[in-house]
Amino acid sequence: MQPGRDTKAELNRRSQVCEALAGTGVRVAKVDLIVVVGFLKRRNNPAMMIPAELVPRLAIAKSVTVLTGAGVSAESGIPTFRDAQTGLWAKYSPEELATPRAFRRNPRLVWEWYEWRRKLVAGAKPNPAHFALVEMEGLFLRFHLITQNMDGLHQRAGSRHVIELHGNIMRTKCSDENTVVSSWKDMGDIPPKCPTCGGLLRPDVVWFEEPMPEEEMQEAMTASTHCDFFFSIGTSTVVYPAAALPSEALRSGATVVEINPQPTPFTPQAHFALAGAAGVVLPELVRAISALRRF
Ligand code: OAD
Repeated sequence: MQPGRDTKAELNRRSQVCEALAGTGVRVAKVDLIVVVGFLKRRNNPAMMIPAELVPRLAIAKSVTVLTGAGVSAESGIPTFRDAQTGLWAKYSPEELATPRAFRRNPRLVWEWYEWRRKLVAGAKPNPAHFALVEMEGLFLRFHLITQNMDGLHQRAGSRHVIELHGNIMRTKCSDENTVVSSWKDMGDIPPKCPTCGGLLRPDVVWFEEPMPEEEMQEAMTASTHCDFFFSIGTSTVVYPAAALPSEALRSGATVVEINPQPTPFTPQAHFALAGAAGVVLPELVRAISALRRF
């Protein structure tokens, strides 16, 4: 505390801090009051909405698992799938573009739509939410990042191990052999053909009606059912099996936190629902945990 600031108001704030930390195991005497008081004040800002009791509990967690969805990339300028007005599925139907049947019916349309999305992703940059998740990886003994996003922005931000449940739009595979193809000769075909077998090339993503990648799904399930804290961030939790992971975590005894400006079908079950943008809430959360951890 700075000299001359030991006023009644400051003492009131002190007791607020102590109340917030009571029973959490955090040593109150060592807390940097200025940082925590600032954090408690910002709590009143609707954009932040971080409950005071969340930070000390999270600060002592050993194992954290995060599930991200399209909302985490929204602040990088990549449209989500279901947000009214901007969502990709508001303009295009999944049946026309993201199913094996759609590809068989009109491979050119599907390839060109993904080419457009690839360009969007190539021009996008990771945002503060991606960078905050990189920092979080360093804050906990065990940290797992599961994503439904296909844009690779977590990896570009610096996250080291990302479990990609729906593939990666920047990768291409042969639709016949199901093998990743990294280069091919441009013969003017749309979609281009596999250099090995001549089959049509397609994005290496999971389409509706297709099976999930087994290894990734298993890893995601284990990470979700063996963590102290589980975060569901920027996902509408309507596309299964990924949408089942927050409930699995809950059933396994984890404290579950949702970060999403809009309510989702999972919101009523979450222990904490932080109604704000991931790029605002996550950096704030990381700052608050780091402040507690410094002592
Ligand atoms: P959705 O488009 O269904 O949901 C995006 C969620 O992000 C919504 O709940 C928004 O409220 C929220 N959101 C928007 N901006 C946000 C922000 N700045 N911060 C935090 N949240 C924000 O996207 P997903 O749940 O990822 O699958 O969709 C799941 C799957 O459905 C996708 O992986 C894709 C899609 O069809 C396949 O293509 C197989």
